[in-house]
Amino acid sequence: MSRLHLGILGSGAGSNMQSIMDAIDAGTLDAEIKIVMADVEGAKILERASKRGIKAMHLDCSPWKTKLEGEAEDRCIEILKREGVDTVALAGFMRIVKPKLLAAFPQRVVNIHPALLPAFPGVAGWKQALDYGCKVAGVTVHFVDAGTDTGPIIVQKAVPVLDGDTPESLHARIQIQEHLAYPEALRILASGEWRMEGRRVRYRDGAGTEGGRSSM
Ligand code: GAR
Repeated sequence: MSRLHLGILGSGAGSNMQSIMDAIDAGTLDAEIKIVMADVEGAKILERASKRGIKAMHLDCSPWKTKLEGEAEDRCIEILKREGVDTVALAGFMRIVKPKLLAAFPQRVVNIHPALLPAFPGVAGWKQALDYGCKVAGVTVHFVDAGTDTGPIIVQKAVPVLDGDTPESLHARIQIQEHLAYPEALRILASGEWRMEGRRVRYRDGAGTEGGRSSM
């Protein structure tokens, strides 16, 4: 078991980061958030982090609109390393991360996606599932690889699609599960009780449950 030193990248409200902070505060996740960066100036995720006394900063990613590359990527890696980050958690970060960042943190960049991958990668996974007519939607926490939402899956949670659902109501129910799934996935990483078999992330039963950090 080893404490995670997290760097969090986001773009928006930061409710997933909030769930990670809450799990740390509750003593159910052995981690420390070293730095939070957002590509959107004034994003609420930055405000939430600062309020908690966590270092938070805007990362200017121009000229790119949809990816983290070039000078911004170099700067991001430099800051993450300087702050002692060993695990990068994308929490609503609406940009594609590129191989350089992944190489700087091998098997240590994770993402949360609001759909049951491999279905509905990309933008607004919940709306894609609803429009498709799915009866079950959900959330995936996965390692990031060079593709878009294609990396090995750590945790998934299913959410039923209800007859009266709108994109907003479905997303709200998915977010409830996101806030359980992200701390759970990070607990698995912190437990050290996992291994990769091909694409399969294998872990001891209960490794992600609260307090489930005893040795395998
Ligand atoms: C979450 O629903 C997350 O799954 C999604 O953005 C939202 C961020 O919410 N991420 C993606 O769509 C990534 N492709 P938050 O800022 O409140 O955590």
